[in-house]
Amino acid sequence: MVFIVFGVTGSGKSTVGELLAKKLHLPFYDADEFHPVENVKKMSAGIPLTDKERLPWLENLGWHIKQWDLQGGAVLACSALNEKYRKILQTVPVIKWIFLEGAKELIHNRLGSRKGHFMNPVLLDSQFETLERPQYGLAVSIDQDPAAIVNEIVLNLNPMQKKSKFGIIGMGVMGKSLALNLADKGVALSIYNRYLAGVEEGVAQLIVDENSQFTHIQGFEHLGNFVDSLSVPRKILLMIPAGVAVDMQIESLIPFLQAGDVLIDGGNSFYKDSSRRALMLEEKGIHFVGAGVSGGEEGALKGPSIMPGGSKEGVDQISSYLELIAAKDPNGKPCTAYIGPAGSGHFIKMVHNSIEYAEMQVLAEAYYLLKGYMQCGPKEISDTFIHWQKEGLDSYLLSITIDILDTYEGEDLLLDKILDQAAQKGTGGWSVNTALEYGVPYGVLTEAVMARSVSAKKDLRLQASVLYNHETFAAIEEKKRFLAKLKNAYQASRIINHEVGFNLMREVSVKNGWDLDFSEIARIWTNGCIIRSAFMEELVVLFQSNERILTAPSMVDKMDGYQDDLSYVVGQGLQHGFALPVFSSAINYFLGSITANSPANLIQAQRDYFGAHTYQRVDAPAEKNFHTQWKKY
Ligand code: 6PG
Repeated sequence: MVFIVFGVTGSGKSTVGELLAKKLHLPFYDADEFHPVENVKKMSAGIPLTDKERLPWLENLGWHIKQWDLQGGAVLACSALNEKYRKILQTVPVIKWIFLEGAKELIHNRLGSRKGHFMNPVLLDSQFETLERPQYGLAVSIDQDPAAIVNEIVLNLNPMQKKSKFGIIGMGVMGKSLALNLADKGVALSIYNRYLAGVEEGVAQLIVDENSQFTHIQGFEHLGNFVDSLSVPRKILLMIPAGVAVDMQIESLIPFLQAGDVLIDGGNSFYKDSSRRALMLEEKGIHFVGAGVSGGEEGALKGPSIMPGGSKEGVDQISSYLELIAAKDPNGKPCTAYIGPAGSGHFIKMVHNSIEYAEMQVLAEAYYLLKGYMQCGPKEISDTFIHWQKEGLDSYLLSITIDILDTYEGEDLLLDKILDQAAQKGTGGWSVNTALEYGVPYGVLTEAVMARSVSAKKDLRLQASVLYNHETFAAIEEKKRFLAKLKNAYQASRIINHEVGFNLMREVSVKNGWDLDFSEIARIWTNGCIIRSAFMEELVVLFQSNERILTAPSMVDKMDGYQDDLSYVVGQGLQHGFALPVFSSAINYFLGSITANSPANLIQAQRDYFGAHTYQRVDAPAEKNFHTQWKKY
């Protein structure tokens, strides 16, 4: 079989032809090398060839094509611009014609930067005039990386090409890791990454090439071909940054999709965006699944926790794939489950991240006190944490903190060289907004978000630290005694972090009729995700018989034992100059939540005083409102 890659000058015939020949294990020939010297001279001078001058060249090529065909095939790069020329070349019954198609502007720009070729760029206009686009053969857009063009050609040459079962769009860290995880489980996979000239070129193909042990991945940067390579109904996972990029990607995908296809957004999207997208796609019969995915790069590669919400029919179609790649809980069950209606998957991921923020912050506060108040070195701090780990406080975040405290750059602890400014991408703040919207107490988790905001204002902190001459003071107390208290304070604060996060989930679930299963949510968070911990395993059992964490008998016992130590640690820390936003918010939340008689009676009175907002009385039914003329003169 002879393949002729054709098109105008500068369309990339030689590059693509050569790559294609390599892929098909065929010899490659460039028609330019068959021109007689006189033709080359004319073209170098920018003078178009006449048909009379082209004829012998074409006839010679036609003769060679016959020989190559007999010898087992070849790939020829040749302009073959119009039907007349192509007829001369058609000296064998079957030729595979591959037309490289591109806008004149694009080719013009490319020719501008081409060096060492005799073809004068001014010939481009005359070539476009001569060009007749054939109705047969294969036309491939050149607005993509050469490797992707070849990939597309190969796919199209073989219509029996095995279709992939699953597709992933977006080959960033998470997309790539999930792709490799799926490929490792033997799933026939298509991966796509956009083409951005000079920035993202041949990204998907590179992943395919670098992972040649997997023979069942295909890489694309042409969206239509990517979708075509998938078996119907298509299952496509988007792994792209949350926000407008997701809307744009969905918009460009829609023309290629059909009713029954399943589209999954695995990024950290805002849950209301997912509800909106689900509604829009439902009208087209496309199942939309908003799936929270937790575990970072390593989790995605080795087993994340996956929280799909949205179309149940859609989730049913993809659940076997999700179960294949998800982490496994202590009983060997996959850490993934159908969460609930549209938006709920991303909603619980958002709250997961909010708890993640607070869990990180309490560790930071414990480290702060150990380092500053207790004057412990990194080894002593990490030994303390290892001790906690062994005594039932094991968690992923604690274990990575231990690793961090043991990472050196030469003689220096790397941590000491890291700037004290923490960034955030949105999920923590969205949770705070949601808590406000639903009227759920959320101070503890809000403080974790705000602690990052305070950290980010380094300049202002530096300015004020001089004005106030801020100092922290070391402890004058027995280390062993304080460490025992700190451990209890840490445990207490973690209980409150989870209580607050799960309370928000409960409120939103009830108000939206989502019927979330909290024991199941805790179960899929026992492994794979960032907030996995021994405590989360306790919550799986707790939620089977208790609605709330704080009122569950086992937690009442624990908090009874911990609360004094949490108050003590906060008191000592604050008095000695250490800001402890989450620890102190936790004890405030706790004391506030177990107080039968709060001072809010005074707030009611004040509101009524200045705004006649009325108040309720302890000695009258709650629905009855009272107003007093408070002003005495
Ligand atoms: C996870 C993480 C992951 C990511 C978050 C945190 O569960 O795997 O939560 O989703 O680390 O986006 O982001 P920020 O800390 O930057 O807000």
